[in-house]
Amino acid sequence: RSVRVIGAPTDYGQDRRGVDMGPSAIRYGGLSDGLAEAGVATEDTGDLLVPRAEERDPDYRTPSEGKARFLRETEDVCSRLASEVRESLADGHTPLVLGGDHSIAIGTVSGAAAEADVGAVWFDAHGDLNTPTTTPSGNVHGMPLAALLGVREWEDVDWANAPRLAPENVAIVGLRSLDDAEREILRDSPISAYTMSEIDDRSLADVVEDALAVASDGTEGYHVSLDLDWLDPTIAPGVGTPVRGGVDYREAHHAMEQVAEDGGMRSMELVEVNPTLDQHNETAELAVELAASAFGKRIL
Ligand code: ARG
Ligand code: MN
Ligand code: MN
Ligand code: MN
Repeated sequence: RSVRVIGAPTDYGQDRRGVDMGPSAIRYGGLSDGLAEAGVATEDTGDLLVPRAEERDPDYRTPSEGKARFLRETEDVCSRLASEVRESLADGHTPLVLGGDHSIAIGTVSGAAAEADVGAVWFDAHGDLNTPTTTPSGNVHGMPLAALLGVREWEDVDWANAPRLAPENVAIVGLRSLDDAEREILRDSPISAYTMSEIDDRSLADVVEDALAVASDGTEGYHVSLDLDWLDPTIAPGVGTPVRGGVDYREAHHAMEQVAEDGGMRSMELVEVNPTLDQHNETAELAVELAASAFGKRIL
C-alpha cells in the first residue's frame, strides 16, 4: 500500500500551547524511515497552513451557544483537511494525518467517511464526547467524536458531522477519563467503549479484536484515531492531558500489529503529541513506532 502523510499543525482545540509542533516532532522522530521499515511507499504533502492562535479571537460564540474555543478556525482547518483526506483516498493512498490536537479528527474522519461507510477505532484515555454545552473546558479536542456523530447541539453543525460513520461502528479503547455528561451520552449511545478496567480483565489483545470487529461490521473499513494520551504517561509524557494508568509499550505495539494483520484500516491519525511537554522527543518517536506497526512492520 502507499501512504500519504498530511500535517495538521493545530493547537486551537486545547489550552496548552505546543501541540502545533506535533507534525514536525513526528517527522523528526523518524516517520519516513519508520514507514519505509513497514514496507509502504510514502509521500508527504507537508503541512496545512494554520493561522497562529494568537492572531485569532477564540470566543466568538455567545454564551447561550455554549463554549467551543476557536470553532471558526477549527472549521476552516477541518474543511481543508477533509478535502485532502478524501482526495488521498480517491487517489488510492492511505491518509496518515499528523496532529495537532484531537479536534482535527473532525476533518480527518469527515473526509474518510465522505464516500464510504466507515467505522472508527478511537485509542484514547478520553471519550471526546463533549458538546459546547457539556464541555468543562471549552476545548474542542474533548468533542470530536460527538461532533462527528452529531450528538446533541452538534447535530446542526453540518461541516463537523460524518453521516457515514454510525455510532454502532465506533469503538473507544483505553478509556479512563470521562466527564459526567460524557458518561450520560455514552450510556444512551450504541458506541462500544472499552475501559482500562476491562482491558485489565480481558487483555488488550482480546478487546482490540472486538473493537476491530465493531468497526468493520458492515463498513468498507475503519479509521484509526490514535491519541497519544492513550498510552501511560511514563512512556508518553509529551501530551497535554495525561491520565495515569494507560496502555504500556508492548500492549500498544501488539494492538497496532493486530490492526495491520486485520487489514481493514483505511486512514489513520496521530494526535496530541506536544514536544514542549515531552522528554527528548520520546512521545513523537513512540508515535512513529506505533504507526510503523499499524502499517505492517514486523521483526521476522
Ligand atoms: N474531557 C476533557 C475535556 O473535555 C478532556 C479532553 C481531552 N481530549 C483529548 N483529545 N486529549 O476538556
Ligand atoms: Mn485523550
Ligand atoms: Mn453502516
Ligand atoms: Mn482524544
